[in-house]
Amino acid sequence: MSILKINGGRELRGRARIQGAKNSVLPILAASLLADGETVIHNCPKLSDVEAASKILKHLGCSAKRDGDAVTVNSTGLSRLDIPHGLMREMRSSVIFLGAMLARGGEATLSLPGGCELGPRPIDLHLMALRELGADITEEGGSIICRASRLRGRRVNLSFPSVGATENTMLAASLADGTTIITNAAREPEIWDLQSYLRTLGVNVSGAGTPTVTVEGTKIRADVSHSIIPDRIAAATYLAAAAVTKSEVELTGVIPKHLATVTEAIREMGCDVRSGRETLHISSDGRLRAPKPIVTEPHPGFPTDAQPQIMAAALRARGTTAFVENIFENRYRHVGELRRLGAEIKIEGRVAMVTGVEKLTGAPVTATDLRGGAALVIAALGAEGVTEISGLHHIDRGYDGLENTLRSIGADIERI
Ligand code: EPZ
Repeated sequence: MSILKINGGRELRGRARIQGAKNSVLPILAASLLADGETVIHNCPKLSDVEAASKILKHLGCSAKRDGDAVTVNSTGLSRLDIPHGLMREMRSSVIFLGAMLARGGEATLSLPGGCELGPRPIDLHLMALRELGADITEEGGSIICRASRLRGRRVNLSFPSVGATENTMLAASLADGTTIITNAAREPEIWDLQSYLRTLGVNVSGAGTPTVTVEGTKIRADVSHSIIPDRIAAATYLAAAAVTKSEVELTGVIPKHLATVTEAIREMGCDVRSGRETLHISSDGRLRAPKPIVTEPHPGFPTDAQPQIMAAALRARGTTAFVENIFENRYRHVGELRRLGAEIKIEGRVAMVTGVEKLTGAPVTATDLRGGAALVIAALGAEGVTEISGLHHIDRGYDGLENTLRSIGADIERI
C-alpha cells in the first residue's frame, strides 16, 4: 500500500491548474446514458471515481474511453439496466445512474447503497421524486427495482435541497412526457453544469442555481461534447494548503465565485486572496488567525466538502475556530487523525471547536475519507517534521495528482 511522505514547513510558490470537478463529471457521465450516441467530455479529471463510473457504463453495455483529459462515452450499445453490488460498493454515489437508466430503458435495478464514511446516506428523496414521475419502486433483498413504462412530468418538491436527488430528478425528467418543476432544488454549481450539458443534448431545462429547476421532457440529440467546470473543492484545498505555509501561489482555470465563501474565510484568517477572471492568487506568511465560525450549508452557503480542509488550516490559527457541520452526520472523522499531529479540537455533536496551537508535529496518520484525507495533507504541510499518510485510496477518489501539483509549487511530498 503506497503512502504519502510529507516534510512540512516548506514555502509554496508558483502556479497550479485546477482539475475538472469530480461532482460535475459523475452526474454528466450518468446523463450520457440519455443520449443514444456519443458524448465527448473534456476537462475530465483522472480519478478513481471516474474509473468506477466508466466501469458501470461498460457494465451497462456502453463504451467509455479516455484520451488525455477527455473521456468519450458511447451509449448506443446500452444492453443492461442493473448495477450490481460490487460496482455500487465501489462508488456510493452510483445512485446518480438511477434516473438516467430509468428514463432511457424503462427500468433500473441497483443494490442499495450502504452508508459511507460520512454516515448513513439515505436515498429517500431520490425515490420519492422518481415515484412522483411515475416510477414503480420496490425493494427486494438489498436491491431496489424501479420500473416505469412512461415517466410523466410533475411538480416535485424536495424537503431538503439534495444535490443527488436534484440531479436524478433532472435526468429522469429529461425523457418524461411533459414538464417537471423541481422546487427546493440544490443550487450547487455542478447542477448548473449538468443543466448546460442537458441543453447540449437538446433538453429544454432552466433554473439551475435557483431553488426551482424546470425540465421539459424531449427527444434527445446524440453526438455532443461538453467541458467540465473547474473543481471548486480542489481549488479550496490548494488555497488551504497555501494558507498554512509561507506562500505565493496562483491557481488557474478556476471560477472564483464558485468558492466565494471559502476565499472569504481564508481572507479572514489573514491571507491576501485576489481573484481574476479564471484565477485565484493567494499570498500568506503562514501565521493565521481564527476566522468567524464555519457553518456548512447547502450552496451558496459554506460547502461541507471544504470543512475538513479549512479545519486543517485553522489548527495553528491564533484563537479558537468554531465549526458547525449541518450537512452530514459524521463528518469529523479526520479529527482523531489531526489530534495525532498535536491539534486541539473538541467535538460536541455537530460543533467542533479548534484551539490554535503553536506547532504541529509530523506523525503517521491514516485518511478516513476523501476530504478528511486532504485535511491531513494540509495539516502535514504546516507541521514540523515528517508525516506519513496511508489510506490514499480515499484521496485518489477525488484528487487528480494532488502530490504532483503540490510538489510542483515547492512542497516536499512524495508517494512511496
Ligand atoms: C453530493 O453528495 C456530493 N457528491 C458530496 O460530495 C457533497 O458533500 C454533497 O453533494 C453535498 O454538497 C457528489 O456530487 C458525487 P446530498 P449527495 O444528497 O448528492 C441527506 C465529496 O466529498 N439526504 O446533497 O449524496 C444526506 O444524508 C462528496 O466530493 C437524504 O436524507 O449529497 C446528507 O445528509 C462527499 N435523503 C444530505 O442530505 C436523500 O435522498 C446531503 O446529501 C438524499 C440526501
